[in-house]
Amino acid sequence: MPEAPLLKVSDLRTHFFTDEGVVKSVDGVDFAVEQGRTLCVLGESGCGKSVTARSILRIVDRPGRVVSGRIEWRRKDGSVVDIATLPVAGREMRRIRGGEIAMIFQEPMSSLGPIHSIGDQIIETILLHQDLSKSAARDKAIQALRRVGMPDAERRLALYPFQLSGGMRQRAMIALALCCEPRLLIADEPTTALDVTTQANILDLMKGLQDEYRMAMLFITHDLGVVAEIADEVVVMYLGRVVERGTVDEIFHAPRHPYTQALLRSVPKLGSRGENRRLAVIRGSVPHPFARPAGCGFAPRCEQAIAGRCATIQPELTTLADGHQVRCLLYSDQAA
Ligand SMILES: Nc1ncnc2c1ncn2[C@@H]1O[C@H](COP(=O)(O)OP(=O)(O)OP(=O)(O)O)[C@@H](O)[C@H]1O
Ligand SMILES: [Mg+2]
Repeated sequence: MPEAPLLKVSDLRTHFFTDEGVVKSVDGVDFAVEQGRTLCVLGESGCGKSVTARSILRIVDRPGRVVSGRIEWRRKDGSVVDIATLPVAGREMRRIRGGEIAMIFQEPMSSLGPIHSIGDQIIETILLHQDLSKSAARDKAIQALRRVGMPDAERRLALYPFQLSGGMRQRAMIALALCCEPRLLIADEPTTALDVTTQANILDLMKGLQDEYRMAMLFITHDLGVVAEIADEVVVMYLGRVVERGTVDEIFHAPRHPYTQALLRSVPKLGSRGENRRLAVIRGSVPHPFARPAGCGFAPRCEQAIAGRCATIQPELTTLADGHQVRCLLYSDQAA
C-alpha cells in the first residue's frame, strides 16, 4: 500500500464571523502534500491562501474559525492525526506547530519578535521542541544560521532583528523555522518583500535544504516565475475554493480552468526573473465576500461562461487525468 500523504486537507472550511456577516474565506478546500515535494498555492489577493495556511497551524485570528473539514497530518511514527480536531493551545498542537510543521511569513517581523536577539529566539524554539542542553541548543542555533548562509553566525546570534538587513532578517526567520527540522514548511510569500537577487538566493537555499531533509513545502505565492522554479504540484484558488490542481507542467502547459488560463495570460514572460512577472489584472474584480455568485464564483468574470448555467450551478471537482482536477462546468456532465 502506498504511504499516506504527509498532509491531506479535505473539504476545509474556515469562516470569519464578523458583525456584518459571515466571511467564508476558505470554503471547501482539498489538496495533499507528499513528503519531499513542493505544492504551490496560487491565486489573486483575497482568495484565501493565507487563511488556508493559518488554518493548518490553527493560528487563525478571531473572529475566524475552522468550521469543518479534515487536516490529516502523518506523524513521524506513521500515525495520522486530524489537526482540525485538536485543541488550539493543547500539547499536541504545540508540538506540531513549529516542531513538525513550521511557517515563514512574508514579513519577517511577524515571526521574529523585536525584543529578543535572534539567537535567543532560535535557542528558545529549539529548547521548546527538543530535549537538549542550553549549550547544545546554542550550537544548533549557530549551525542553523550558518546553513541559511548567515556570515559570522556566532557573533550575529546576539543581534536583534532591527540590526539586520532585510535579506539577513529573512534568513534569520528561515533559520528559526528550520531549526527543528520540520517535515513540512509552509511558506507564505516568503520572498515578495525582497530584492530580486536576495529572492533568488533564498529560493535556492530553500530548495537545497529541502533536498537535504526531504522536507515538504507548501508554498504560497502570486509569482508565476517562482512557481515555475520550485513547484511539483500546483493548486489554483479562487474565492476560497480550489478551482484547479495539477502538476506544474499540466498547469503551465495545459491549464483548463478559464481562471487559470486568465492568470497565465496575464503574465508576459515566464521563466525570467524581474518585475514584469507579477500578475496583471484579470477582467472584472473579485466579488465582495457578502455578494458571492450562487454558481461558479468566477462566472461573472469568465469569457467562456455558459449562459443560464455557470451563474447558478456550483461546479464539482472533475478529474481529467490522474491528479489533474478542475472545478468547471466546461469539463463536467453536471450541466448536461
Ligand atoms: N480577521 C479577518 N476578519 C474578516 N475577514 C478576514 C479576516 N482575515 C482574512 N479575512 C478575509 O479572508 C479572505 C481571504 O484572506 P487571505 O488573507 O487568506 O487572502 P490571500 O489569498 O492570502 O491574499 P493575499 O494574496 O493578499 O495575501 C479575504 O477576503 C479577507 O478579507
Ligand atoms: Mg496572504
